[in-house]
Amino acid sequence: MDLFDDLPPTSEAARLALAPGAVLLRAFARQDDVALLAAVEHVLKQAPLRHMQTPGGYTMSVSTSSCGALGWVSDPHGYRYAARDPVSGKHWPVMPECFLRLAERAATEAGFADFHPEACLINQYVPGAKLSLHQDKDEKDLLAPIVSVSLGLPAIFLFGGTDRKQRPQRYRLAHGDVVVWGGPARLAFHGVAPLEEGDHALLGGRRINLTFRKVQLHQ
Ligand code: SIN
Ligand code: FE2
Repeated sequence: MDLFDDLPPTSEAARLALAPGAVLLRAFARQDDVALLAAVEHVLKQAPLRHMQTPGGYTMSVSTSSCGALGWVSDPHGYRYAARDPVSGKHWPVMPECFLRLAERAATEAGFADFHPEACLINQYVPGAKLSLHQDKDEKDLLAPIVSVSLGLPAIFLFGGTDRKQRPQRYRLAHGDVVVWGGPARLAFHGVAPLEEGDHALLGGRRINLTFRKVQLHQ
């Protein structure tokens, strides 16, 4: 028995507005967790996690991979979306059906119907890994929201405004939580505080985050 077992995922108690256009849907992905994690493993067998370099010359503490028609890539030349995995030279793995269905359902629940992402970035955090405050702005389509799914160890999510100077709020994201931000919040600064040690029943000492993005216009 768990705190959220008696809450239907779309109930009022399970949603928290973070800002206009941004909502946290608590436990929204919980009932799909086993299928999602099997699909993550399947993707990662084809496109293993790697620590990317940033244009500023740092190595990211988070390790990443992607699936879908496009994958997010960072290297000393910049950030961009690419159709092929630069490590293997092959197309990114196909986006699993259960990923797509969940992302579309969460977007709809958050008020963004017709969300059809062509990219899913997979981020893995181990204790100490973090993501500095940033905006997701490498996508051409800024009308579509970002859908972010948390699995495994809990993390502190920092969510601010569209101005970097605005101090971000802190939210604890647990296994199965989904955050959707779009509209006036689409370019909100966000990040993840260094992951704390822990042992999750399904993922052990890790957190996996999936972010779904609509990259291209008119597709
Ligand atoms: C991201 O900003 O791409 C990931 C956010 C998260 O890990 O919760
Ligand atoms: Fe982001």
